[in-house]
Amino acid sequence: MKKTIQFAGQLSIYDAIEELVDEREQALCYKAISAQDRAYAPYSRFTVGASVLMSGGQIVMGSNQENAVYPLGLCAERVAIFAAHNIHPDSRIRSIALTTSADLEDGEAPVFPCGSCRQVLVEEEYRTGEEIRILVLDTQRRVYVVEGINNILPFAMNKDSLD
Ligand code: THU
Repeated sequence: MKKTIQFAGQLSIYDAIEELVDEREQALCYKAISAQDRAYAPYSRFTVGASVLMSGGQIVMGSNQENAVYPLGLCAERVAIFAAHNIHPDSRIRSIALTTSADLEDGEAPVFPCGSCRQVLVEEEYRTGEEIRILVLDTQRRVYVVEGINNILPFAMNKDSLD
């Protein structure tokens, strides 16, 4: 017999960066905005800035880095996440902020992390056992907040899947 189940994610939208309760996350958003200036995106011309907030309070920035051999490029999120583990090996990732050059209509949802970066974020949650907050900025600097990657990548594979 066929059974159909529904599943849904949840997100919150803050009208301005300053509405975020945690001041460190406000700073995180501004770091993502400044990281975007460091993008190297001559091929797509789509610039992305990311920043991660560590459990020790440190912030690490990343931007997308492209290559003439297209698949070699890396998303801003992964540049930031992998750098963060190297710069602060004893700290865990708590939140990640993201901004892109997407040309959005007013009120249109911003571009969220791509599927590959979502899977990398799953690995991060698995490492720490704690959910990561994902903050995505739109053109008007509204902040879309997702608490836990499961909201945007349900049924994800993790290390337990390999047992
Ligand atoms: N990109 C990111 O940096 N993060 C995302 O979540 C989406 C895509 C980059 C990769 C590539 O340099 C450009 O945006 C166009 O896909």
